[in-house]
Amino acid sequence: MKNKILAVTNRKGGVGKTTIAVNIAAGLATNYKMNCVLIDADPIGSSTLWLGDTTINRLKIKRLTLPNSPNNKYHALQTWGATLLNTSLNCDVIIADLPPIEIGVFSELINQVNKIIVPVGLSSLEWEASFPLIERVMSASKDINEAKGIIVPSRIHPQKIIPREKIIEVLPTQWTLAPQLSLRSDFQKASELKNWVGNTAKNSTAHKEINKLVSFIAKNIN
Ligand SMILES: Nc1ncnc2c1ncn2[C@@H]1O[C@H](COP(=O)(O)OP(=O)(O)O)[C@@H](O)[C@H]1O
Ligand SMILES: [Mg+2]
Repeated sequence: MKNKILAVTNRKGGVGKTTIAVNIAAGLATNYKMNCVLIDADPIGSSTLWLGDTTINRLKIKRLTLPNSPNNKYHALQTWGATLLNTSLNCDVIIADLPPIEIGVFSELINQVNKIIVPVGLSSLEWEASFPLIERVMSASKDINEAKGIIVPSRIHPQKIIPREKIIEVLPTQWTLAPQLSLRSDFQKASELKNWVGNTAKNSTAHKEINKLVSFIAKNIN
């Protein structure tokens, strides 16, 4: 597997990064029998709080805070990336849960990971905040044919279906659009119960949505 290092990130907090990182890591381990390492790169440690004591098979969690200071950004991020690469030698896939990211750090991050997963809600504010990320990936990966960026429509009102065709039409080729995750209390409940929706809300709509997203991700990394 060549694309094994995935980073979930956004310039904003509260968009669903941790929810997505935790559930796709558990989903890839459970549904695809992949050995996963969930990297908690957020100094706040939300995914460690969520899954730190997990007994999910084939899933490990490791803290490795993303260097987010403007000083010596380049070197610090290279070291961070090298640790990820080293970790990746002993597993099938790495999912890194990142803190809200500054655009300069993001530009360096692009070179350290294989895929960038960006949760985006339906509001124009969230889209506008994501444009610089879309643009950076576009210019950094002009020469590659496969999508480096994956947009995950996140926290979508359950009665809303996103206009997929319209979004795909305007997305650059370096980006792809994943199936959507709706706003569902089962996601919140899973975090309270410190497990993934596949265990806390088996066969629920939230679980089905995650399974769809997990299979989309699995296709994109193989
Ligand atoms: N699809 C969803 N449905 C319902 N609640 C969600 C969903 N995604 C995230 N949340 C909730 O929104 C809040 C922020 O989510 P979180 O995953 O921690 O975002 P981030 O890591 O981007 O800050 C949490 O309370 C979480 O439970
Ligand atoms: Mg988070």
